[in-house]
Amino acid sequence: MPKDYKFFENLTYEDFQAMALNQELSSFEKIGFPDAYRDLYEQHIFEDVQLKMPALLQRDSVVFDIGCGCSTLPNLLIQSASKLNQKLILLDSFEMLSQLPESGSPLIRKFPARYPDCPDLLQELKGRVDAAIVYSVIQYVFAEGNIFDFLDRTLELLAPGGRILIGDIPNISMRKRFFSSETGIKSHQEFTNSNDIPNIEFNKIEAKQIDDSIMMSIVQRARSAGFHAFLLPQAKNLPMSNRREDILIVRP
Ligand SMILES: C[S@@+](CC[C@H](N)C(=O)[O-])C[C@H]1O[C@@H](n2cnc3c(N)ncnc32)[C@H](O)[C@@H]1O
Repeated sequence: MPKDYKFFENLTYEDFQAMALNQELSSFEKIGFPDAYRDLYEQHIFEDVQLKMPALLQRDSVVFDIGCGCSTLPNLLIQSASKLNQKLILLDSFEMLSQLPESGSPLIRKFPARYPDCPDLLQELKGRVDAAIVYSVIQYVFAEGNIFDFLDRTLELLAPGGRILIGDIPNISMRKRFFSSETGIKSHQEFTNSNDIPNIEFNKIEAKQIDDSIMMSIVQRARSAGFHAFLLPQAKNLPMSNRREDILIVRP
């Protein structure tokens, strides 16, 4: 039975571990998305990520996917890493990684951990990573852990010119702006097949939700540490581009 979006609210790292092993869920549901939000879209997501991370298209680069999940995206990364002789490290829980195929290549590694609780790997990758992908993951770290510790440790991994894409960030401020706009109201009405006006409240404490202040502070923190950092829109053909955005960090 397909699950609706309510099933995927407030997920924790442990929920993902259990969902990964739940045989009733599709590969998209195991990573917290109803099929409609990922099936048919992951190729577009991959292309958008490649556009922002040129090292993904280069031979011999070092690619680190933090919270890689188990759907089409990591499989596309495995395919392109094999073709381009890239070193690829896929990090997630043991349960999630068990859903991915073995590549058979010594250059492609699965690393089970709850990031950044992996001191040996952090030491090994220090200053070596060309592309670190954190896609649709930082919201869980924000709710459960320390995003600045996560960020500081990942910054240390970048090689000169290396990039981090903290992608697909649900920004509640952006969502409110969208759903209180004419376009957003129309889109809500089409989606619900009703004349309802979305219920948007401003000036409200939004516990555990990322908002503009968090987005800006991630950018500012990275810049203060000597990295370029940018807020970027998602490609229009991605399913949540009206309320999610990306942060791109570049080691000069
Ligand atoms: C929404 S899924 C995204 C998966 C994949 N990046 C994608 O976009 O297809 C979130 C993933 O992050 C993983 N995750 C959450 N917190 C994590 C952490 N602290 N360390 C490693 N993985 C984490 C979960 O296990 C889950 O697989």
